Amino acid sequence: MSAAPNDHDLRVLLLHGPNLNLLGEREPEIYGTATLDDHVAEAQRVARALGLDVESHQSNHEGELVELIQGARGRCAAIIINPGAFTHYAWSIHDALAAFTGPVVELHLSNPNAREPWRHTSVVAPVAAGTIAGFGAAGYELAVTAVARLLDAMDDQPR
Ligand code: DQA
Repeated sequence: MSAAPNDHDLRVLLLHGPNLNLLGEREPEIYGTATLDDHVAEAQRVARALGLDVESHQSNHEGELVELIQGARGRCAAIIINPGAFTHYAWSIHDALAAFTGPVVELHLSNPNAREPWRHTSVVAPVAAGTIAGFGAAGYELAVTAVARLLDAMDDQPR
């Protein structure tokens, strides 16, 4: 990937919403047996190989996620977010992401569109460059790779 002008251009915020702290124990038939730490380690491993640095946070609180997204403004180049159930109704997260200027990738372990109807709406999708869903643990690698490509494509644009 192309060299970025400074360090903050390379930082990627990886956010996890409610109940994702329980990964590994929570409904393993849907979400798998890997823990959140396992997923974050994999994201960091892939990111390092691509010249990116992943900063990860999990919160069960909508307002805390909004503050983390606001805090990424001017500090992080991109955001990867698995908003958990907030995906389906948390408009404050939509608005916070809309105020972030870099690329946003929405990530889910399961495929919400293949599940209950209330999971078929995402209020995050309209402010994301794209969504990675249904690939389980592999989604972390795919999301980091997607972010690297999006940042690379931005680098290629005239400023
Ligand atoms: C999830 C899907 C959501 O519908 C659910 O509420 C979650 C996890 C996923 O990663 O598959 O908590 O975001």
